Amino acid sequence: MRDTLRFVLGDELIEIAACDPTLTVLDWLRLERRLTGSKEGCSEGDCGACTVVVGRLDSGRLRYEAINACIRFLPTLDGCQLLTVEHLKGPDGSLHPVQQAMVDCHGSQCGFCTPGIVMSLFALWLNEDAPSVARIAIIAAAQRMSAGGGDRPDREAVTARLRALADDDTLALSGPRGRFLAPATVAGLADLVTAHPQATLVAGATDVGLWVTKGMRRLDPVISLGRIAALREIADRGDHLVFGAMATHAEVRPVLASLSPQLDELMRRFGGEQIRNAGTIGGNIANGSPIGDLPPALIALGARLVLRRGGEQRQIPLENFFLDYRKQDRREGEFVEAVIVPKPGPEALIHVSKISKRFDEDISAVCGAFLLRLDAAGRIAEARLAYGGMAGTPKRAAAAEAALTGRHWDEAAVNAAIAALASDFTPLSDMRASAVYRLTVAGNLLLRFLIETTQAGVETRVAGPLAEAAHG
Ligand SMILES: Cc1cc2nc3c(=O)[nH]c(=O)nc-3n(C[C@H](O)[C@H](O)[C@H](O)COP(=O)(O)OP(=O)(O)OC[C@H]3O[C@@H](n4cnc5c(N)ncnc54)[C@H](O)[C@@H]3O)c2cc1C
Ligand code: FES
Repeated sequence: MRDTLRFVLGDELIEIAACDPTLTVLDWLRLERRLTGSKEGCSEGDCGACTVVVGRLDSGRLRYEAINACIRFLPTLDGCQLLTVEHLKGPDGSLHPVQQAMVDCHGSQCGFCTPGIVMSLFALWLNEDAPSVARIAIIAAAQRMSAGGGDRPDREAVTARLRALADDDTLALSGPRGRFLAPATVAGLADLVTAHPQATLVAGATDVGLWVTKGMRRLDPVISLGRIAALREIADRGDHLVFGAMATHAEVRPVLASLSPQLDELMRRFGGEQIRNAGTIGGNIANGSPIGDLPPALIALGARLVLRRGGEQRQIPLENFFLDYRKQDRREGEFVEAVIVPKPGPEALIHVSKISKRFDEDISAVCGAFLLRLDAAGRIAEARLAYGGMAGTPKRAAAAEAALTGRHWDEAAVNAAIAALASDFTPLSDMRASAVYRLTVAGNLLLRFLIETTQAGVETRVAGPLAEAAHG
């Protein structure tokens, strides 16, 4: 056991012996260190005003990512480097090229969230020499900053410092508001979860963070999964992929995109860059939300969940994990270890649509994910239709699947499936959508699927990677 939190702030080694488990990075920066350049806007991971950059070792390689300081718990920075807007400098006290580009291109409005925008651009500047327009929001400044030179951090030196901080001890911190435990191995995690079955598990904290900042909840003890490298692994096993529960959405995206551009589009629409850098595939599933975006897609692909308790593992079809509204088949002392995703193969027809009020950074009203396999005669041999937002859990549309199976993939089949959806779902009306809208759009998505797979050149998407691909 180690009872001191250790990380690097800019160049400075920070060691903290007593720390509350849910003290946010933003509160620590602003209230304790008086580094007030990072701002608090929404306090829920939405506006980006609090954006900071975190460097962490990923299989021994230094990786820099923009994250939201407002919903990230400070002790989860153990072994990382934290960079804030105060650390940006150009030569001889001048502005950093990213800041200078923002000034030159009039990239700032009222200025409050400018430090957050600068830090987002800084992360891009660190990672990509010539980012495509699709990757950037403040286009002129982002293009100019790349031309502006500027000293990059000494990656070798930072890597060596972070390596020196890494160990296999469980981090065990205490503060007036509770305990924070962070094991470094899966076995250590299994022991801790067995010993503290009521503990709150924290992965990327993009859901849990809001329980603290908005729900004012006190969480004690907290068990963080963030130090366990083995849980971040993504493995290609020939006919299937295995995603460790802690693989982030940013890491999962290119791998899912290799299965289908439809999955790339879904991941592009998942939160914003900072959320995708922190949020994990395991957290999106374990959270049990009826409107989580990954479960419908993974269910349609036939994913299986690997759950672990102590030394025991069990596997279940992902759809069986969701029992009822916010009730999952997770036994006491159990945690999500991995997700197994069969590769659909090029012959499978795949469709994913996320319907939300905003294109970017919004939560689904309805999410539909479908997979069809046709036999040699063109008849539907297998149909997997999964929806989010239509019931208290992500759920397959069994009646609509039955209505499709054995038929040719055509408008008559779609109409039969649409009629059957009414017996699959009795959706709710809430602030995101009415029940009638949800049922109508769920059917329309099947029609969109048919059009996309049978009528070349018909425009079905207005923005995003699929629309860009359609327009060449
Ligand atoms: C601004 C914003 C935008 C968002 N946009 C989207 C969106 O577009 N689509 C979407 O689906 N979601 C969205 N979310 C929700 C959230 O980002 C996702 O659900 C994310 O995947 C949660 O993962 P996490 O690692 O942050 O989980 P955490 O917040 O750390 O945990 C979530 C829950 O899962 C449990 N948990 C985590 N890991 C495990 C594990 N391995 N085993 C057992 N239990 C575990 C935790 O105890 C907790 O109950 C958004 C959130 C915010 C704040
Ligand atoms: S304060 Fe809005 S994202 Fe953190």
